Amino acid sequence: MDAEMLETAIFRLKLEIVRKIGVRKGMTVVDVGCGQGGFTAAVAKTVGKHGKVLAVDISDEYLDEFTKRVDKYHVKERVTFSQADSADLRAVVSDEAADMVVSYRLLEELKQARDIDKIVKEMARIVKKHGRVCITELSTKAKNKAEETYIRLHKESGDCFFSPDEIVEAMKNAKLTRIQTRLFDTNIWFSPELAKQDMGFAQVWFDEAVEKSLGPLIERYGMKYPALQTFSGIKA
Ligand SMILES: C[S@@+](CC[C@H](N)C(=O)[O-])C[C@H]1O[C@@H](n2cnc3c(N)ncnc32)[C@H](O)[C@@H]1O
Repeated sequence: MDAEMLETAIFRLKLEIVRKIGVRKGMTVVDVGCGQGGFTAAVAKTVGKHGKVLAVDISDEYLDEFTKRVDKYHVKERVTFSQADSADLRAVVSDEAADMVVSYRLLEELKQARDIDKIVKEMARIVKKHGRVCITELSTKAKNKAEETYIRLHKESGDCFFSPDEIVEAMKNAKLTRIQTRLFDTNIWFSPELAKQDMGFAQVWFDEAVEKSLGPLIERYGMKYPALQTFSGIKA
């Protein structure tokens, strides 16, 4: 597998998740923590030319990559980017403006664990009544050494992983109802070189982690993109 094949495999996975969580043609969707735009592009493909996606990120460091990606998937005209902290989106999104609010691997990168409550409450504020909020995170229940290594690598780079119970609790605190979770397994394997590229700006952590402890594990078991877990809830 090369970098392009890896991106295609992850994009297909994102498309499958987006469709199964209920994104539909014509919707207005907010994607929180859009990063390099892979999930945004999958959402934008799915909402079609009459839909809209507002992509939000606290940082603009991935904006070039983001712009390239929405161009590559031909969805530029239906996507807008805003730089904002998802703990307070009042300056960029009004109450109940979105049919659906989604995130993909946002929570793992929070700088402060206590922000989870504020962020999920903001997601609930901006979704319409009866609309859905859906959070997607890596499942930390590794099924084998190859998944375990992927998660350990990200933990060592400083990512904070919330337990499923903590995410469900934050959704309940935000008064979301009918909370459902679902697992999406993957069959995506990384070579050590691709694993390093996937770490993006945290590549330096990759070298350190490999040197300290993970090198032999990656060598022996390889690395696998773990299953994703979705958490969705409805605004009553
Ligand atoms: C793992 S990346 C997201 C990946 C992306 N959703 C995708 O499809 O590939 C996490 C992103 O969350 C952003 N982020 C972290 N804390 C945030 C916050 N408080 N508000 C908005 N974005 C945040 C980071 O800047 C980073 O771009």
